[in-house]
Amino acid sequence: MAKAPSSTFTCTACGAVHKKWAGRCEACGAWNSITEEAPLSAGGAKALSQRGRTIPLTDLATEEDPPPRVRCGMDEFDRVLGGGLVPASAILVGGDPGIGKSTLLLQATASFARNGVKCLYISGEEAAAQVRMRAQRLGLSDAPVGLGAETNLRDILTTLDAERPGLAVIDSIQTMWADTVEAAPGSVSQVRAAAHELVTFAKRRGVAIILVGHVTKDGQIAGPRVVEHMVDTVLYFEGERGHQFRILRAVKNRFGPADEIGVFEMTGGGLAQVANPSALFLSERGQAQPGSAVFAGIEGTRPVLTEVQALVAPSTLASPRRTVVGLDSGRVSTILAVLEARCGIPFTGLDVFLNVAGGMRVNEPAADLAIAAALLSAREDVALPPDMAIFGEISLSGALRPVGQAENRLKEAQKLGFSQTIAPERTKIEGIDGMQVRKMSDLTAFVGEIFGAG
Ligand code: TYD
Ligand code: MG
Repeated sequence: MAKAPSSTFTCTACGAVHKKWAGRCEACGAWNSITEEAPLSAGGAKALSQRGRTIPLTDLATEEDPPPRVRCGMDEFDRVLGGGLVPASAILVGGDPGIGKSTLLLQATASFARNGVKCLYISGEEAAAQVRMRAQRLGLSDAPVGLGAETNLRDILTTLDAERPGLAVIDSIQTMWADTVEAAPGSVSQVRAAAHELVTFAKRRGVAIILVGHVTKDGQIAGPRVVEHMVDTVLYFEGERGHQFRILRAVKNRFGPADEIGVFEMTGGGLAQVANPSALFLSERGQAQPGSAVFAGIEGTRPVLTEVQALVAPSTLASPRRTVVGLDSGRVSTILAVLEARCGIPFTGLDVFLNVAGGMRVNEPAADLAIAAALLSAREDVALPPDMAIFGEISLSGALRPVGQAENRLKEAQKLGFSQTIAPERTKIEGIDGMQVRKMSDLTAFVGEIFGAG
């Protein structure tokens, strides 16, 4: 007799399955995120030991053309997709509530529709009138998009099957409700079941599907993490509140490079594309100020210059503040430790504030040297030359490690009017027209040369 399947306990943050309830998920460390779920199949399943059919196998040499792609004409969006939308692919667009996902996708859907793709936009969150009003405000009313306001998955699938669109947008996956699953909409089992049905449908019927997913920190709604494994492409729409800039970042892409970004600006008329993000991120930079360093970075395939800002001030606290926005705080601690241990420059008793201007997030290790430069410049109250761009990774020994795509970084810096770059010694490139490259072997040499002290 097969044992009746018992219910499982699933973490709403990461999707890990546990045998029993616990206050903290062992897999991801989230608190109070585990919920009980009914078993997926309540008996009746055949034992897997029964014979099935054999799967036909092919070899790896099978020639396949690269997937055909459809561009929507919003270059920033097309680039993040890897050069356009791949038919029959499934895409997840995640982001905080209110960041602008619905706005972005309505604009993208309208662009695809205007380019001749048959598009459906299914809103489970807003009434049709609301979406129409937004479309009107964005000047998209004339785009031939089929709009539906529905949450019942069965009805949505039937509609998709009848309409056979090239692209269907589901806003959002958390509002979808499959009547085969006995759980509330937004629970992990519902989200998983709905995503599974929609993705399978996309593959079988050749429809590209974009799923919108909310990410909430407290795990109230099932995070779309469980969906990430099912889809081909995962895009995150991010931005700091209070900033106008929004960044669409590819974190997974089976059909293109990950880490590619598209930059947008939220305006009264929707999201506007930012074709030259470096110019935008540096536009607020006034005169040379202590604590400011320009980092020549790479985001995906595109060079992006950003300004790292630091403030260092005497602290009244027993353990001084380390406030970091837009950078990895672990990395910043490491750089502070290297500065202290290898260069003899302590930050004890000093509050440190670090920030990337414009609400950008920088994750590249190549930013290390620019972070160190901003910290030192703030601490010594000495401004760096305004025409200086910086890149390089710092190792724990204090040595500077070369990083990739040096030429692209230099060219972008030169284009924006920079005439000197600090780079690690083993960087392959010698310099380009109008750009002097100053190579340094380690952090101590850098401190000596730029700040004139050991
Ligand atoms: P929305 O796309 O509804 O966010 P999400 O779907 O991610 O929850 O966008 C919500 C915010 O965008 C809202 O606070 C208002 C702002 N917004 C603008 O600033 N300009 C616009 O043209 C639109 C449509 C929205
Ligand atoms: Mg929305």
